[in-house]
Amino acid sequence: MAVMFRGNSLKDISWNEFQALRPAEKAPMLTSGGHPYHILFSQQFDREFLNRIITLATMTRRIAKTRGGLLYLQGLLAEKRAMLYFVQPSTRTFLSFFSACEMVGLKPGEVRGTSTSSELKGESPEDTVRTFSSYFDLIVMRHPEAGFAERIAWLLSTTERPIPVVNAGSGKDQHPTQALLDIYTLQRSFEEVGGIEGKTVVFVGDLARGRTVRSLSRLLALYPGVRLVFAAPPSLQIGDDILAELREAGVPVQLTDDFHATIPEADAIYMTRLQDEWDIAGESQKIDLRRFSFGVEHLPLLKPNAALLHPLPRRGEIAVEVDHDPRAVYWRQVRNGMWIRAALMLMIFHRDAEIDRYYEDLTS
Ligand code: CP
Repeated sequence: MAVMFRGNSLKDISWNEFQALRPAEKAPMLTSGGHPYHILFSQQFDREFLNRIITLATMTRRIAKTRGGLLYLQGLLAEKRAMLYFVQPSTRTFLSFFSACEMVGLKPGEVRGTSTSSELKGESPEDTVRTFSSYFDLIVMRHPEAGFAERIAWLLSTTERPIPVVNAGSGKDQHPTQALLDIYTLQRSFEEVGGIEGKTVVFVGDLARGRTVRSLSRLLALYPGVRLVFAAPPSLQIGDDILAELREAGVPVQLTDDFHATIPEADAIYMTRLQDEWDIAGESQKIDLRRFSFGVEHLPLLKPNAALLHPLPRRGEIAVEVDHDPRAVYWRQVRNGMWIRAALMLMIFHRDAEIDRYYEDLTS
């Protein structure tokens, strides 16, 4: 039975009550005026939202092609400031948020590790983030703890200066903005061949600890006819919680430890690296992942319109020689990250309708 709460806002509910809700029950509390406000987990997105952000990212990308367009974009959020709080390593997510902020005029600040904040003196992460909310209008956070961004979003809603929180990667659990850029990349790859609907997507590698896979597979469940194959060594196979959600959503799912046999049937292959930073005693380094790698010898097996993705960083599971193949879209994913994150911040601050108007003038 659903937990009863007094309103439809985070400030009307206790943390324990909020935690007990299902994602579908939490989702309405993460919006403001019909727009996304907190971005915490991929189950909060529906198809309408995905279609909108894809369109918005494409319009923003096209507007930015000219100097006039770029200057226009840079004025949209010029009065806002964003704190990029990344206490787990990141190259792409940090830099794409940083670049997206500059693209739409948001002034970025950064904390890139607890060693440079007063957390080193013993301040709690909660107090640290609450301090940011005194100076900034948005917090984008990467944190090793699953659910931390959710807790902070709730905590800030109880303060005198609530501001939106964007989860840029939380533990082994979720990476919702990566899932958005992955969907954007897939949509662009399949634009001429019927979109994402009906496609077979093969996830490969360390699926047990890959938060990008967990977030993206839930979004793919929103596309009718999609079939998901999870190719991994048994000890690194996808979690039962995700499988249960996918089965409940009616998504056909296959588990295998023979990745190379799946290549000819794949419309998209989503490679991932070994996530041994989560090991307690280096145990997963003993696993032979050569059977879960993609080399030039596999290119002839790949469908002509297939897309080969990787959230990156890679550690040899895709040979660099494969980069030259037009079906290798992982560097495009990196660029798409900036556009989708710019679009997301425009939506959070209700400036997306201005993009519609500018783009219409530009193209009419
Ligand atoms: N895809 C991704 O999250 O990359 P980074 O860890 O470099 O941000």
